[in-house]
Amino acid sequence: MNLYRPIYHFLPPSNWMNDPNGLLYYQGEYHMFYQYNPNGDEWGTIHWGHAKSKDLLHWEHLPVALAPSPELGEEHCFSGCAVIAPDDVPTLFYTSIGSGDRGYEDGAEQWMATSTDGMMSWNKHQGNPVLSKEVHGELNIRDWRDPYVWKHGEQWLMVVGGKHNGKGCAMIYGSDDLKAWKLLNKLMEAERAEEYLWECPIFFPLDGKYVLIYSPKDAVRYYTGTFNDDFTFTPERHGILDPSGWEGFYAPNVMEDGEGRKLLWAWMPEFARGEFDGAKGWAGALTVPRTLSLTETGALRMEPVQELKQLRGEYESTSDLTLSGGQTLTFKTRGRGIELLAEIVLTDANSSFGFKLLHTEDDEECTLLLFEPARQRFIVDRSRSSLSPLTHRMELQGEINWQTGDKAIVHILLDHSLLEVFADYESCLSTRMYPLSEDSNRISVFAAGSGSVTFRSLQVWTLDSIGPEPHQPG
Ligand code: FRU
Repeated sequence: MNLYRPIYHFLPPSNWMNDPNGLLYYQGEYHMFYQYNPNGDEWGTIHWGHAKSKDLLHWEHLPVALAPSPELGEEHCFSGCAVIAPDDVPTLFYTSIGSGDRGYEDGAEQWMATSTDGMMSWNKHQGNPVLSKEVHGELNIRDWRDPYVWKHGEQWLMVVGGKHNGKGCAMIYGSDDLKAWKLLNKLMEAERAEEYLWECPIFFPLDGKYVLIYSPKDAVRYYTGTFNDDFTFTPERHGILDPSGWEGFYAPNVMEDGEGRKLLWAWMPEFARGEFDGAKGWAGALTVPRTLSLTETGALRMEPVQELKQLRGEYESTSDLTLSGGQTLTFKTRGRGIELLAEIVLTDANSSFGFKLLHTEDDEECTLLLFEPARQRFIVDRSRSSLSPLTHRMELQGEINWQTGDKAIVHILLDHSLLEVFADYESCLSTRMYPLSEDSNRISVFAAGSGSVTFRSLQVWTLDSIGPEPHQPG
């Protein structure tokens, strides 16, 4: 029985994956590229995997897009992006890493590759690198990687992450032809000392503002603000996109599709599995695609794409249910591929409530999701998620700002070892858990403490597999 491998989230047929790269909507199809090790289930010899989809749900896995070229001193093809160049040429940008003076700390280069056969094969540009560290002159930018390119009026712009004087930063460059680039500015640098490196910065317009998302080796963060004509950025709002970092959400990337939707995917790393070896032959998956928008106050909002509804199977629902004083309702629906949607009326914002996820009848294994409006937070308590002592157990916390009288939405996606939680779609938390027991397949809702909570509606679905079945056990 498959206990851990997701059935409706994206991952390669086998082996290691990390960041989503080069997301592209082209000729009516979604293309997904990603950091991939074809040789094993640990990080190493990084290639670019490739898959495509017509519906954002079912993916056809295609030949590896980029492999390192040892004859050119290349050992890894690190993260990057894809654009459609003039004359309709699909073009990838990525960070080329070697060893010695081509090492990742001080010798990274930005390379380009193009395809002329409908993205089945890729040719590395003869004139690579298109950017090398010389572009910075006297500025010493280290750990320089993860190009993100877009068309801005008549010119092409690129942001790349790195560190400068021990602070994470995003540098911005410009080009007329995608091949010759010049440094324009330091777009933004870390304001917090902990952010010593920014990986995978992405910068894009959304609802009249610009959004800068970056991964600072910890919880993924963002700024929204104004992009000025002189290539400076005036941030107006700062936030955490997801507090989980290595525990479940890292290196997100965004693309615009044919309907103009901005879609985001993030890597859901496997580190929370620790030394536990119950899942072998694969590591890492992506969140479901999420549609981005801005709230009136400039905060980022993320909602699973509507397409996901097509996977809904068995259905169970309850409406106008009030629970009080520790009362619990266990759903009849069981399984590890589940969607739950709750509409809550906060008759008393001092009341707490929660969900028991993937639990056994006696709660020996149980992942606890607890909403505490009075403390303006929700937590995921993984201390009993797995009987294995080897998996990570630390508690994760998200923010909520719910007052008495508010209506709130909690949307939960469970897929074997993956959990995504959306609180009003403004505060999101994505993480991993590895329950050992086949019986850890129950879902319950409860009122915590002495208060009561009213659910306008509670809806639960099993979700269908997107197939194909795993190539490896686990
Ligand atoms: C982020 C990251 C990127 C890098 C890639 C290597 O997870 O470290 O900065 O390009 O992974 O696989």
